[in-house]
Amino acid sequence: MTTLPPVKPVSTATASTLVNQSADVVVVVIDEADLDQGKLKNNDLQNLDTQLGGAISALTTLKDFEGKWLSTAVTLCSVNTVGKRVVLVGGGKKLDEKPARARQIGLKIAEECARFKAGKVGICGTSAFLASGELVTQMALGLRMGNYKYPNSNLTAEARKELETHVEFKFSGLQANVELHLKQSAIVADSIETCRLLQDAPPNVATPAYVANVMSEKARAAGLSVQVYGGEKLRQMGFGAMMAVSGGSANDAQFVVIEYAPTNAKKSVAFVGKGLTMDTGGYSLKTPSTHQVGMKYDMSGAAVVLNAVIAISKLQLPIRVFAVAALCENMVDAHAYRVGDVLTTYNGKTIEVLNTDAEGRIVLSDALAYTAKDLKPDTIIEFSTLTGAMISALGHLGAGIFSFNSDTLEKTVLNASQQVGERVWPMPTWDEIGEDVKGTIADVNNIGATAGAAGSSVGAMFLKEFVENKPYCHVDIAGVANGNMSVGFPRKISSGYGVQLSIEIARALSVG
Ligand code: BES
Ligand code: ZN
Ligand code: ZN
Repeated sequence: MTTLPPVKPVSTATASTLVNQSADVVVVVIDEADLDQGKLKNNDLQNLDTQLGGAISALTTLKDFEGKWLSTAVTLCSVNTVGKRVVLVGGGKKLDEKPARARQIGLKIAEECARFKAGKVGICGTSAFLASGELVTQMALGLRMGNYKYPNSNLTAEARKELETHVEFKFSGLQANVELHLKQSAIVADSIETCRLLQDAPPNVATPAYVANVMSEKARAAGLSVQVYGGEKLRQMGFGAMMAVSGGSANDAQFVVIEYAPTNAKKSVAFVGKGLTMDTGGYSLKTPSTHQVGMKYDMSGAAVVLNAVIAISKLQLPIRVFAVAALCENMVDAHAYRVGDVLTTYNGKTIEVLNTDAEGRIVLSDALAYTAKDLKPDTIIEFSTLTGAMISALGHLGAGIFSFNSDTLEKTVLNASQQVGERVWPMPTWDEIGEDVKGTIADVNNIGATAGAAGSSVGAMFLKEFVENKPYCHVDIAGVANGNMSVGFPRKISSGYGVQLSIEIARALSVG
């Protein structure tokens, strides 16, 4: 019940020389700047060409390959002690958003290698993307992400065998400091992979209890402390908001708190995640029902924070970290909450429900209030697939960030975002928008007074009511949790977006 299905394991092995590796595919990453009218410009590339029996120059002389961004060319390798095929991949020329692009190269390599059913892959080249630890790390993550496939339970024996076949990616000729980074990337890749498996798992499998069980087992195995509160316990604790949202579901709500507390920590941060394992909309039912498709991804925030804390602990970052996940299901039955209900949240503030589909902010009100009051972190970062309006604003190209109660937090998040190539864009938090959720019957309404006006900011202004003036950043990942179109992400499926961003924010806050 609590075991995740396996996905194709990948090892991004250590560097070695090309000789004697007998790879199925030798990938050579080459930038436009490495070539001049089809000629190999530098010695390193000429040496590689010699090792590969002239395969590179054969393709470049013919102008089959000019190093253009993500272009590819393939030829057979005549030196079979090195490999069977040579695939050239273009690194383009002087591009922005390098980390995300490095990951995109990794995705491309994985795609090419799958085409040849390659089990053993060598990667080398003179591209600038292979020259820095950060970029090779992203490339390795792209390889792992590109190899990910949700294991369909109806797979034939043959297909399952293929899924479980080990793919070995070996980088050649990396500098020693680059290799060190590469080792750490496996930790991050594991967290992204588990995050994605949970995101993609269907809602009848990934119930609140399932997610809570899987992640608490993983966290305990990593030596972290874990608290899981479920069902009636939450009512006793005063989680009136979460209890209301999960009222219509046969699956109990679960509230998970994982803590990583290294002895050398000076600061603390809490990552809070929205964990709706399914969002039908409740009585304000999503209409047409096609809008319910994909709502299994409404637990992405929870999957992100629960997996990020595990990676942060394995990377031994010197900061105390809490991962807080509010898991429940928004369904319809005789016990479901209604439009017009007034709910009392964990900190005593009351909410008038004017739309049961704006349930994420309701669930998060308890989670944020508990985090601020009981965990008392220095900073709160929260990930949620909160609003459809976020997709209207930024499409599937990036997440919106809304920061409060700090002059520096927005900058910290922006910097972290650029480091790891997970795009964010600052959104408005104007006071007038906050006025929009002030209540008459209760303290706050769960939707704004004007339908459709600044919807994502309205959600953010509602949430900030529950953080006790702590530095707080709300990250709306509605557009990027799945079907991500931004640079360096797989299309149409789970993205694991946010795992790396969280890790990088924790790293920045640990020294700040
Ligand atoms: N989970 C949705 C937001 C969402 C929509 C995420 C599409 C990903 C894709 C959220 O619970 C929701 O339904 N929000 C409402 C809020 C509205 C009623 C104020 C929305 O965005 O329509
Ligand atoms: Zn909803
Ligand atoms: Zn939702």
